[in-house]
Amino acid sequence: MHDLRKSYGDREVLHGLDLAVETGEVFALLGPNGAGKTTTVEILEGYRRRDGGDVCVLGTDPEQADADFRARIGIVLQSSAVYPTLTVEEIVALFAGYYPAPRDPDEVLVLVGLEDKCRARVRTLSGGQLRRLDLALALVGDPELIFLDEPTTGFDPAARRQAWNTLRGMRELGKTILLTTHYMEEAETLADRVAILRNGRIVATGPPRALLAEHVAVEIRFRRDGEEVVIDTDEPTRVLHELTAEALAAGVELEALEVQRRSLEDVYLEVTREGA
Ligand SMILES: Nc1ncnc2c1ncn2[C@@H]1O[C@H](COP(=O)(O)OP(=O)(O)O)[C@@H](O)[C@H]1O
Ligand SMILES: [Mg+2]
Repeated sequence: MHDLRKSYGDREVLHGLDLAVETGEVFALLGPNGAGKTTTVEILEGYRRRDGGDVCVLGTDPEQADADFRARIGIVLQSSAVYPTLTVEEIVALFAGYYPAPRDPDEVLVLVGLEDKCRARVRTLSGGQLRRLDLALALVGDPELIFLDEPTTGFDPAARRQAWNTLRGMRELGKTILLTTHYMEEAETLADRVAILRNGRIVATGPPRALLAEHVAVEIRFRRDGEEVVIDTDEPTRVLHELTAEALAAGVELEALEVQRRSLEDVYLEVTREGA
């Protein structure tokens, strides 16, 4: 997409976004609440109309999308509402019927870890289980491209790991995945590349490791005379060399020495800081 713009009323919420997601890539869109993630994703899905810019998804403008386009994408919306009185297996089978070449519903339920719940009615599922059902419904059409808007919000840690494994499996099958998340660890472990949105603008984009190298220093900590010393540096090799050489020459130990690789969360906080 190029120069994507969107306003609600006279308020512009996307100020000209440029973004290209490659086939087979996992791409994470990050940013605070209200940054414009859902608006962006839903424009790409063909659920909302843009006010300006060019958008091309699977070779199609999503505003002109037909049934063929919709069969090639899978969607997990930020909030879901599915038929509460059906059972899990009924609804997955129902959705499978909408697609020309669906995956086997039983296999999809195993993939998302809901095989034990296949006979449970949807209304009896917990929040995390409902979210997994959303994921199952996005996958059952065997889409090439999967959109996931906060797919693991509200998951407990075990369910989140399970979802990550499912998404890694999708990636290995060559699927392209665009997800939004508030969990930096999720983006760091899953995404090939991320874009960080702030107030409708992309403020950083690239592979998580490249962003780390670009935006945040390495932190070196140790104790000297009982006092904690913290050094932030872009040149950890040189600084460590100097510190350790000094300590060796003096015949002392650098007490409680730690070298900390910063996380994507540090980058995120840095680039989304108000006034940054
Ligand atoms: N349907 C809508 N009508 C009016 N304003 C909206 C609508 N949807 C989103 N907004 C506003 O647009 C901005 C971006 O929202 P959204 O895309 O949902 O952000 P995010 O998903 O990053 O939290 C927010 O300020 C939000 O209040
Ligand atoms: Mg959102």
